[in-house]
Amino acid sequence: MVHLHGDFLGQFCARRPLGRSMSETRGGAARRRAGDTSAPAASPATGLDLHIELAGPRVRAALEAALREGVQTGRLAGGMRLPATRTLAADLGIARNTVAEAYGQLVAEGWLTARQGSGTRVAEDAAAWSAPPPAAATPSAEPRYSLRPGQPDLSAFPRAAWLAAARRAILAAPSDAFGYADPRGRPELRGALAAYLARARGAWAPADQIVICSGFTQALSLLCRVLASRGAAAVSVESYGHQHHRDVIQASGLSPRPIPVDDDGAVIDHISGSSAAVLLTPSHQFPLGMPLAPRRRAQAVQWARRAGEVVIEDDYDAEFRYDRRAIGAVQALAPEHVIYAGTASKTLAPAVRLAWVVVPRRLLPDVLSAKSLTDRHGSSLDELTLAELIASGDYDRHIRRSRLLYRRRRDRLVAALGRSMPRPEISGIAAGLHAVLRLAPGMREADVVAAAAGRGLALEGMRDYCPAGVTYPEALVVGYGTPPAHAFTTAVTRLCAVLQDRGTLAPPRGARQQGPP
Ligand SMILES: Cc1ncc(COP(=O)(O)O)c(C=O)c1O
Repeated sequence: MVHLHGDFLGQFCARRPLGRSMSETRGGAARRRAGDTSAPAASPATGLDLHIELAGPRVRAALEAALREGVQTGRLAGGMRLPATRTLAADLGIARNTVAEAYGQLVAEGWLTARQGSGTRVAEDAAAWSAPPPAAATPSAEPRYSLRPGQPDLSAFPRAAWLAAARRAILAAPSDAFGYADPRGRPELRGALAAYLARARGAWAPADQIVICSGFTQALSLLCRVLASRGAAAVSVESYGHQHHRDVIQASGLSPRPIPVDDDGAVIDHISGSSAAVLLTPSHQFPLGMPLAPRRRAQAVQWARRAGEVVIEDDYDAEFRYDRRAIGAVQALAPEHVIYAGTASKTLAPAVRLAWVVVPRRLLPDVLSAKSLTDRHGSSLDELTLAELIASGDYDRHIRRSRLLYRRRRDRLVAALGRSMPRPEISGIAAGLHAVLRLAPGMREADVVAAAAGRGLALEGMRDYCPAGVTYPEALVVGYGTPPAHAFTTAVTRLCAVLQDRGTLAPPRGARQQGPP
């Protein structure tokens, strides 16, 4: 890079502080001084910003050297259009002729090209000699098909409805929506969620206690940091669950303490005495899939009341239930002791990065302060869009359509496995987007996962969801929601083929017919 020194810095530097527009540049100021208040020309040919530093008393030579160096280092990429001579001259505060002569010289040397109608560009192969050699192509290790759990069918994202909602919401938004906002998030979304959560999830959710977060991940992190700042040391977690969530808890300064899970869900009696909270997935235990039994729900609330602590209710996929009626949120039983958390990652897509927590009043100031210190608040434009999607009814319509789609997939998966093996042991299928498939005694899930990868199918075993030291059954967690519609049949066919090859499915336990829990 050409360095600036002495007085020339003030005289010739066209470098502008980040965030300032063209009209604030030297050229813009000069035009304003001359009484020209028109905006700088905005055509692509003339309105380009170019960071150039000039050094030395000979302006043209300095400009040539700076441009040459930009091309050599690859900073100015082959084919890139340069600003029109008039624009660059105005930005640098130098004569237009000087720029034209510098361009002409570099065209003659082969660094730049100039063609009538397409302006001056960096020559395509000018930097080839100095560019680093292209990295050797590494074959993609990712199998073509996936039945990994964790996300919905991304190809089913309601693009048209989202775009239409964004358009309506942004056109209607008041100007202040584009400024800094309440750390809780936009009132439009909190209002829409308050009504939705009360209607669809039976939660107690006043809009002023809802905090919009960037995914459940951020919500969990904020909650744990608040608990840690109040002196907490540990959070109890279900022994089967996301390693990611245990990591988030740990990174917030707390220690995750696993509690066992049986056929009725988390064993509440085992919450450790030192826990300031328990993280539960009551409507659909992740990943085993059973709901928390009514007695256990009551026990969890009693524990929180007695100990003065909180339950964090991760309601991640409650919208998807098939053979049973919706199970209402535990939070409604004790809104001052249960923090309800929902997310758009399953109903829409993880990329939306919107989740919501309903926070008990006594924790709200601390949570808002933590949120504000983390990112002030989330993207108001996305929040307005989701608010409009919910208010228009399109969110509910998408969920109902998706529920039907995933139910059919689940039925097809169960039928295909049933055709491949006599009565395979499948569980957790009354709800959600994944199923748990037990393997035969002696079979290792790692072998099955590796065999599937060899057939171009990504699978995950139960082991991925258990902390070290917790014994787990050899099983697959099959995310039937994951593949796009066109790949679903192939993915399931490959799964069945792998299982048949290896004879890995568990034989039925006695005469017990396996079915939805
Ligand atoms: C158990 C569980 N909770 C919550 C989430 C959602 O996390 P986030 O909102 O950060 O995407 C997921 C997503 O995979 C999940 O599996």
